[in-house]
Amino acid sequence: VSEAVKQARALAGQLTSDRKQIAILDFGSHCLVDVEVLKSAHVIGVVLSGGPASVYDEGSPHVADGFWDWVESEKIPVLGVCYGLQEMVNHYGGKVEASAKREYGKSIVHRTGGHGEKRGDLFFEIPDEDDVVWMSHGDKVTELPPGFKSIAHTDNCPETAIAGPEDGVPLYGIQFHPEVTHTKHGATLIKNFAVDICGAPTDWDMKDIAEEFIREVREKAGPDGHVIGAVSGGVDSSVGAVLLHRAIGDRFHAILVDNGCLRLNEAERVLDRLRNREGIDLHLVDASDRFLAALKGVEDPEVKRKTIGALFIDVFQEEAERIKKEVPEGHTVDFLLQGTLYPDVIESISYKGPSATIKSHHNVGGLPEKMSLKLIEPLRELFKDEVRSLGLALGLEHESVFRHPFPGPGLAIRILGEVNKESCDKLRLADDIAISEIRKAGIYDDIAQAFVVLLPVKSVGVMGDGRTYENVVALRCVNSSDFMTANWYFMDHETLARISNRIINEVPGINRVCYDISSKPPATIEWL
Ligand code: XMP
Repeated sequence: VSEAVKQARALAGQLTSDRKQIAILDFGSHCLVDVEVLKSAHVIGVVLSGGPASVYDEGSPHVADGFWDWVESEKIPVLGVCYGLQEMVNHYGGKVEASAKREYGKSIVHRTGGHGEKRGDLFFEIPDEDDVVWMSHGDKVTELPPGFKSIAHTDNCPETAIAGPEDGVPLYGIQFHPEVTHTKHGATLIKNFAVDICGAPTDWDMKDIAEEFIREVREKAGPDGHVIGAVSGGVDSSVGAVLLHRAIGDRFHAILVDNGCLRLNEAERVLDRLRNREGIDLHLVDASDRFLAALKGVEDPEVKRKTIGALFIDVFQEEAERIKKEVPEGHTVDFLLQGTLYPDVIESISYKGPSATIKSHHNVGGLPEKMSLKLIEPLRELFKDEVRSLGLALGLEHESVFRHPFPGPGLAIRILGEVNKESCDKLRLADDIAISEIRKAGIYDDIAQAFVVLLPVKSVGVMGDGRTYENVVALRCVNSSDFMTANWYFMDHETLARISNRIINEVPGINRVCYDISSKPPATIEWL
């Protein structure tokens, strides 16, 4: 809990907006945000999130002292979700106990006692007959607090949704998770709470958000401050770069590092988009020879990632030193742009500590301290789909806003075995054929990520009259909303056939193409 207190203090600093806002107190991390902070932050409603603990256990997380007094005196509506519901029940004198059977997966919810018929009800406009929700809980409410009533139930759980006393502050609790995609009407429920029950304004518009970010960046950088940033051409770095450029013009210096493991014509394409069309001062550093030399003989995927990550920092640092020398006298280079998104913020402050490292993802970690740079993170309040809307609102073209993610270490983690110029070139051609055929078939936007992997195995083939003994590649196409889980994509056979024919005919050294039909988990999206 002491760790949670520290995190709560750190997060408290973020609740400083002038907008009316709904505070989400997360029992995985910052449930302890001080009541004084909430009071001064225009909070008009609170969501108490789920969490892995049991409310009755010693040491389990709870809201800060004075929280419920504040809720009562200011009449702040509260929605408790799962653990949040149990916290509410526990506080108001009901009973929460471990249930004999853990409930996990889909359930159907039915309204109790006519709830949901009028605007202002939590279940307004949610049809009773197909209200599929996602459950994940071991504990359950066995006795309601005085004055509370059930407003919805499942076959398994009579208190699936509850409401506080009618004449009191609006208090609601739900045992299921409205925030996951499997809960069919979760978004309607959240909207009912936020808009009708809390009175949240509905004028959130991406253009205003962009203007606000631009203002904030200008203020932060001051009149003579310069910002540097690494740009890969992915949606986050492109949107970040455009925002920074609109905010401070040429005082934003973008660096694109060619690590030798980029896709076909990638650097040129990104340069064309950002430098030529957006007018951003994007500097291409071709360090491909240095990277390939460092990767010589390296086969272990984690060593590949670390080698690329470390060298990337060196190259970036050299560039930053160059920029520092070039800025006008009296100007300062104090800031680094980072494309941190809200899920990264959540992940890095988990109550249970960071989740186990399955793959060490490449970022510019360590760089800000090393170079004593402060961070500018304009996207840290946004989810990926919001970054995309922001990109469109800023006028970026469809292709860069909806580009599939591409990992920092690039082709190096798509070449099983040693990475060298020859293997990179081979993979580049095969990958480009696959992606162009996928685009031509009009299915690029239906797939979350598509790419080719070069395998270190050779197989026998026949071409013309001759026997060949050449490499095998795998085509990997997946669908996923968060990249934490993924399903392989059901591709039509004509497109598969075209990709396979073209790769085998056009890429020297490849005589076989396989389609990867593994889901994540247990496989991962990348092969390394
Ligand atoms: P996995 O393979 O872990 O991939 O299922 C999940 C998502 O993360 C991307 N990925 C990386 N991105 N550096 C990155 O910037 C990396 O080292 C890295 N490894 C995987 C992967 O492309 C997928 O989108």
